[in-house]
Amino acid sequence: MAGARSVCPAAYAGPVSSGEHYFSDRPHESAPRRTLPVSLAGREVELVTSGHVFSGDRLDLGTRVLLRDVPAPPPSGDLLDLGCGWGPLALTLALLSPGARVWAVDVNPLARELTAENAGRLGLRNVRVIAPQEVLDDVRFTTIWSNPPIRIGKAALHALLEHWLARLTDDGHAYLVVQRHLGADSLQAWLAQHLATRHLTAPHADPLPRHGVRRLGSAKGYRVLEVRPAR
Ligand SMILES: C[S@@+](CC[C@H](N)C(=O)[O-])C[C@H]1O[C@@H](n2cnc3c(N)ncnc32)[C@H](O)[C@@H]1O
Repeated sequence: MAGARSVCPAAYAGPVSSGEHYFSDRPHESAPRRTLPVSLAGREVELVTSGHVFSGDRLDLGTRVLLRDVPAPPPSGDLLDLGCGWGPLALTLALLSPGARVWAVDVNPLARELTAENAGRLGLRNVRVIAPQEVLDDVRFTTIWSNPPIRIGKAALHALLEHWLARLTDDGHAYLVVQRHLGADSLQAWLAQHLATRHLTAPHADPLPRHGVRRLGSAKGYRVLEVRPAR
């Protein structure tokens, strides 16, 4: 595939507080693995996780809320899981849309390793696991699913979302799950204001055209936000 690589600003967010796995771009050479039985896309599967990645001992509650509320992804095109962890969202996208290319990005190399291994376990050939800065500039996403890394801080999170939402196709949709007490409503307000100004841009990309944000669902202390073309 031709094209240049851009720099994702928040990809370089350093450790901010506790929970190194959440921010680290250093590999954990000897991170112990564990297997985790989990239900994804209506299938009971056994996947591999680690205590050194986000929610390595269970399917995160927010992720479950997102998976419950989100509409089925399109059957083709480029689909993105932003911040893949051990892969539950990327793997679900790939299981539901075998004809699509699924991009699973994470700054944490162990998370990428686990997602790739899990895709292999499920026999999925349509998952591309990659560091954020490795995604070529000319890739546009018809769907983005994300349980975003809220704890990187507001400025880094805004930069991260700005970077990736600018890469939606004109009719693309993004679905984000955010805990209410971690600022879901203020994030929605920021997105609404920001998207209204229509100045989201990725390098070499057109501005994101006329998108809006709405709350798609709310459960168990989480909000699911949908970013979609304005009607
Ligand atoms: C809340 S976790 C979600 C993990 C997984 N999607 C899930 O649902 O279990 C957020 C993930 O974002 C990753 N992350 C942090 N900063 C990032 C960045 N700048 N770009 C991409 N991923 C990032 C973290 O390493 C973490 O795995």
